[in-house]
Amino acid sequence: MAKTYIVTGASRGLGLEFVKQLLKRGDIVFAAARNPDSSKGLQALSGNEKLHLVQLDALSEESIKAAAAEIEKKAPEGVDVLINNAGICGEMGLDFEQTSKNELVKVFETNVAAVNEVSKAFVPILRKRGAGCVKKILNMSSLLGSISSMEDATGYGFGVAYCVSKAGTNMLTRAMSSKLGKENFIVYSSHPGWVQTDMGGGEAPVTTEASISGMLARLDSITAEDNGKFFDFESKTIGW
Ligand SMILES: NC(=O)c1ccc[n+]([C@@H]2O[C@H](COP(=O)([O-])OP(=O)(O)OC[C@H]3O[C@@H](n4cnc5c(N)ncnc54)[C@H](OP(=O)(O)O)[C@@H]3O)[C@@H](O)[C@H]2O)c1
Repeated sequence: MAKTYIVTGASRGLGLEFVKQLLKRGDIVFAAARNPDSSKGLQALSGNEKLHLVQLDALSEESIKAAAAEIEKKAPEGVDVLINNAGICGEMGLDFEQTSKNELVKVFETNVAAVNEVSKAFVPILRKRGAGCVKKILNMSSLLGSISSMEDATGYGFGVAYCVSKAGTNMLTRAMSSKLGKENFIVYSSHPGWVQTDMGGGEAPVTTEASISGMLARLDSITAEDNGKFFDFESKTIGW
């Protein structure tokens, strides 16, 4: 049966591919983007009646509030799945001495604080599905946020700010899962692989299609036992 999804950062890259694959299989999608009108990818899909374009700047309290009100109005019976995908990588290659306070705070604000704010606003919409229905939240993390996997503190060329922020995303996943697990939610962190997007670059080995089909397979098959865990796009468990 078709389910209803919210995808943040849907304008391009992994977010856009989530929207494409969900629509292809008949699901209903609220595609949330800073500027849906200027996203060529979203505009190309806009004739689909199962697609709802929503303006959402995850850094703006006002925008989050307006997006939540709009989704609530269009989906009065609630939403099944929230995909917290929006993220930034910050400046590449900076080690801790080269990382300014501003850089660290800027990346943290989008990758952690905004995920918390968006989740606070949207969880009540998922709760509307009722206690008998499984609700799911995928927080987009990265292998670079896995402290136990990190061999090199520069994060393979990514900046320290990004690595620290994604470790923060992972702790947020644990905090959310611990509270929401009692309400029939499954919350987990996902690593999409190193993927060919604006962020991942052209050298990346994984296509957006393969990354998203793998993550959707995990999302579809996830169970209560997986609440609060961390998986890659091939369903392998990643250590914190
Ligand atoms: N690609 C990889 O190899 C890789 C690996 C590990 C993890 N990830 C994670 O996967 C997620 C998606 O990455 P991607 O590769 O698709 O990156 P991307 O191509 O750079 O796209 C990032 C998306 O996030 C959106 N975004 C950024 N800040 C936002 C904000 N304040 N409000 C709303 N949307 C915002 C962007 O919107 P605009 O178009 O408006 O800028 C864009 O849609 C990120 O969380 C990233 O950290 C990616």
